[in-house]
Amino acid sequence: MAYPNSEDSPGPRNVSAVIDGRPAGDAFASRFRSTNPARLDEVVADVALGDAALLVTAAQAARQAQRAWADVPAPVRGRAIANIGRLIEANKEALARLVTREIGKPYPEALGEVQEIIDTCDFFLGEGRRLYGQTVPSEMPDKQLFTFRNPVGVVAVITAGNFPVAVPSWYIVPALLCGNAVVWKPAEYSAAAAAAFHELFCRGGGLPPGVFNVVYSGGPQTYAGLEQALDAGLVDKVGFTGSTEVGARIGELTGRHLQSACLELGGKNPMVVTPNADLDLAVEGALFAGFGTAGQRCTSLGTVICHASVHDEFLGRFAEATAAAAVGDPFSDVLYGPMLDTRFSERYEKYLAWIGPEHKVLGSTGVGRITAASPRAGFVGDPDAGLFYHPTIVDGVRPGDEIFGSETFGPLVGVTTYQTMDEAIELANAPGYGLSSAIYTNDAREAFTFRKGVSAGMVSVNNSTSGAEAHLPFGGNGKSGNGSRQSGVWVLDQFTRWQSVNWDYSGRLQKAQMDVVELTPDLEFRM
Ligand code: UN1
Repeated sequence: MAYPNSEDSPGPRNVSAVIDGRPAGDAFASRFRSTNPARLDEVVADVALGDAALLVTAAQAARQAQRAWADVPAPVRGRAIANIGRLIEANKEALARLVTREIGKPYPEALGEVQEIIDTCDFFLGEGRRLYGQTVPSEMPDKQLFTFRNPVGVVAVITAGNFPVAVPSWYIVPALLCGNAVVWKPAEYSAAAAAAFHELFCRGGGLPPGVFNVVYSGGPQTYAGLEQALDAGLVDKVGFTGSTEVGARIGELTGRHLQSACLELGGKNPMVVTPNADLDLAVEGALFAGFGTAGQRCTSLGTVICHASVHDEFLGRFAEATAAAAVGDPFSDVLYGPMLDTRFSERYEKYLAWIGPEHKVLGSTGVGRITAASPRAGFVGDPDAGLFYHPTIVDGVRPGDEIFGSETFGPLVGVTTYQTMDEAIELANAPGYGLSSAIYTNDAREAFTFRKGVSAGMVSVNNSTSGAEAHLPFGGNGKSGNGSRQSGVWVLDQFTRWQSVNWDYSGRLQKAQMDVVELTPDLEFRM
């Protein structure tokens, strides 16, 4: 793997909203500095944050542009998606470098993230030539029934910065392909990556102005803008990726407008390790699932639920592998780099305070921030320059512990034990989330029993809780979401509405259910 030079810094990028194809100027409520979390003194983007009115203006522009975009034939929109995919591919390394600089994701993972956009484009470019509806027989003669997919209209997309370009593409690519116009509000702390993504999409797709708008604003302004845009009838669908708490508020707001948002929220993703597991494989999976991306994926491992008979052996090997893992400069060969941004490190410190005397802590030479005063063996780079945290395994977590029940977005993995598969499933479901899950076993009965019982929308057998492929339904239940699914053909139901058409060419009024020919059966017949 060839790593780019981490010292190679092009300087801060000025970022502001782009509405109707034009930068929205500089009359903004406030500014935000997006910094490199591995080197906090490096500013990656200087971002102009807008107020609520900005989102409304963007929604108006989207509303204006949407009808003409929907009139562009779907196969032509598919070509736009194909060309966006090509342009992203041609800029893959540059975009990945920017992602690594801005949010500290290790460079190979950032390349994978960009690949996920390309995969999403590859999937949907052909959908422009499908977007199938059905021809359905009528119960009456000389009448035909059809179904058509119509775009919903204007889609507002609000995304987190842990997957600053891949996750937005899951919404934006199918939304555009289906003939919708988009207003996107990315996270401020990944604004440079967002601005690059937006530019690549507009240039690569040749998108008419107003079809894809991007705005930057803080949480309260975004919420207020969304509410005003919904009140004004300017937004028809909301897609949101972020915390369970904010997702619930978005769900409430859209519910009041008789809309159902596409919500992709947090997770407390369980990994069951059975006595039939290949333990080395399970350790490798737990290490990547728990600590990859510094535990900041919504699919990151929350709790290992280990059969009591293999607990000590698993824990010993897992602690050893964790202690030996390289942490540090994300432009080097490390398991993980820094936290995404100070707001995440600050919140993570609160989660660390949930560790109690009843827990046993393993995995590193300290807990909390890695510094010169709290060093970690084998650290790559200068820990004091960024937001680096020790990997932390917390053994002995149980239901009732806050650390067992809540998402702890960061490099922290809980471990608990079970005796029966029923108990393992109960523990897996107890926190009330339901995004991803994994089981390590070589016993088909265990795998299928777990699959059936677990509340999660995604189940891995002998693989990580994270790393979903871009063409399977992605989404969760319970505190992880409202059942909406992204990716693959399933997401089309988020961005289109079915329209049924009855076409009667009999020349008379044929009444459904009433003017239907009846055949006379002989139901008394017995052979
Ligand atoms: C997220 O963290 O919001 O399955 C998405 C995965 C990635 C996507 C994670 N493909 O881990």
